Amino acid sequence: MISTPINEQLGIKYPIFQGGMAWVADASLAAGVSNAGGLGLIAGMNSNGEQLRAEIKKARELTDKPFGVNVMLMSPFVEEVAQVVAEEKIEVITTGAGNPGKYMKKWLEAGIKVIPVVPSVALARLAERNGAFAVIAEGGESGGHVGDLSTMALVPQVVDAVSIPVIAAGGIADGRQLAASFMLGAQGVQVGTRFLVATECTISQEYKDKVLKAKDIDTVLTGKRLGHPVRSLKNAFTREYLKKEYNSSEVSDEELEKLGLGVLRAAARGGDVKNGCVIAGQVASMVKKEQSAKEIIEEMFTQAEEVLGGAMKWVK
Ligand SMILES: Cc1cc2nc3c(=O)[nH]c(=O)nc-3n(C[C@H](O)[C@H](O)[C@H](O)COP(=O)(O)O)c2cc1C
Repeated sequence: MISTPINEQLGIKYPIFQGGMAWVADASLAAGVSNAGGLGLIAGMNSNGEQLRAEIKKARELTDKPFGVNVMLMSPFVEEVAQVVAEEKIEVITTGAGNPGKYMKKWLEAGIKVIPVVPSVALARLAERNGAFAVIAEGGESGGHVGDLSTMALVPQVVDAVSIPVIAAGGIADGRQLAASFMLGAQGVQVGTRFLVATECTISQEYKDKVLKAKDIDTVLTGKRLGHPVRSLKNAFTREYLKKEYNSSEVSDEELEKLGLGVLRAAARGGDVKNGCVIAGQVASMVKKEQSAKEIIEEMFTQAEEVLGGAMKWVK
């Protein structure tokens, strides 16, 4: 059994978070992961305040275990979402895409544990100074909005820089990567891509099939020119986008921004995996079959225990 201090602090059986994924992570997935012993998270990115409140209510009907909400700081609804999570006294909030400093006081007063996702040492230090309970150090292998550093390089540097717990994210899909995260000094992991194909995940079957068929070199970054690169699976959408992104004399940044609107929803909810954006990380090709959240978590932790058990084999 693998247990780190955050198990007890968060009331979870396994030190694993399911990433708060826009248009993906609804009450069904979050409750499925929490019921399986991890920490499920509802994505706040695509909801206004009242839609989020309804999703929280649904999750509370589906599980009596702790779960969290991901507040995406670039959401147009961020102010109302920030207010609703405080009113609902959610156990854990993770934040994406920036510095949540402005909301920290309100959330801490509501007794919420705030765990920002950080792509750098500087943001990790800032989060600690602002009262974060922990940080999620997310490497650029991950699906979605990514930073520059890889998980292997980022996690130990963040671990050395802060004294709060560090959760590793990005490129973690099996027990070997889970075990490696502990070796890097993390106290837990956050997983997104592998949970895309969980049976409790309600995205389109077309999206799941595209992940299941992915090869190792099938992801690509779009949006670098705009300063917020996104990793997704190559398709007609990414080919078209990249053509425009790197033909800057003809396509303005505003036009490029517009091209990215609604495309994740089209793939995740509408099943359009050609012209929509199929966000997934570099480990997509390691995701081989649909399984329940419980099967995914148990398989990962059983393998990690075996790997950690044999960790001394090269030490003579
Ligand atoms: C489809 C998808 C949507 C995502 N949306 C968000 C989001 O709204 N907010 C956020 O903080 N992270 C988001 N992420 C990142 C995940 O929460 C998680 O940190 C990441 O997927 C971990 O890396 P992995 O994909 O290699 O497992 C998203 C990831 C995916 C795959």
